[in-house]
Amino acid sequence: MTGPLLPATQVADAVDSFMAASPAARGWDVETAFDWAAADAGRLSEGELSAVRFITLIEDHLPGYFDIYHRHFPVDGSVDPKIFVHNRELYHFTTRWAYEEDTHARALCRYQVAAGITSREALWDELAVEGQKEFDLRLEHPVQFFAYALVQEKATQMYYQHLRDVITEPVLKTVLTRLSRDEARHFTFMADIVTRYLRAYGDAVVEPIREVVAGFRMPLADTMRGYWRWALKIADVARYDHTEAYEHLIKVIDRAVDTKSDRQTELTRFIASCTSLPA
Ligand SMILES: [Fe+2]
Ligand SMILES: [Fe+2]
Repeated sequence: MTGPLLPATQVADAVDSFMAASPAARGWDVETAFDWAAADAGRLSEGELSAVRFITLIEDHLPGYFDIYHRHFPVDGSVDPKIFVHNRELYHFTTRWAYEEDTHARALCRYQVAAGITSREALWDELAVEGQKEFDLRLEHPVQFFAYALVQEKATQMYYQHLRDVITEPVLKTVLTRLSRDEARHFTFMADIVTRYLRAYGDAVVEPIREVVAGFRMPLADTMRGYWRWALKIADVARYDHTEAYEHLIKVIDRAVDTKSDRQTELTRFIASCTSLPA
């Protein structure tokens, strides 16, 4: 990797804030949080059903996604001790994050089976097709891994909220509420880290962040067969548009510094120009 790396103390502070906002007592689990016996796919429209299958695939790809952070921030002898300490602190977050995303995958799989959408074995086979494909983010600056996740977490959070607002099936509504709250916390962590990068390194991280937005693809967009057709189809049910997250990235940049440099001003202008929302 190239580009500046946040000091370990900064990462540790962000991890502490995340953990403080995520106490175990306020957590939830697949086994007890939902009334699975009441799940009923008969109350979902064809489009809603399609949306559930789509988001299950996305959430289920967690091993590939988690692996990217593990590969680029290794916690072994391949890095200098200083970098190791940074990566070790970050790992406290990544493992918790991975656990929560894995719980999302389990909740959606459990929903599909309980609601009668599919059988467990058929679902496993379907998920394996995408799960086995390699997923990579062609990013090289440390800050990019957080800017990417910032957009992706916010986009997912917003989509779950939109979907929850249109469906009437109560069990899925509860599942989506839980998921969107978790994604909101994940977004907050990523926003905290990106803010710290902007404060510590200013203009040096502007171009790397611009690159993330310029080449942004949601996870699986490049590997899943029929992804774009599917994404458009589910957008008919509820708004699904990752550029909706860009205004939140702009806010993060605005708040990170008191007075924006010319390059930072240009960056926020560029991000605003990439959104498909009306100005
Ligand atoms: Fe998730
Ligand atoms: Fe998330």
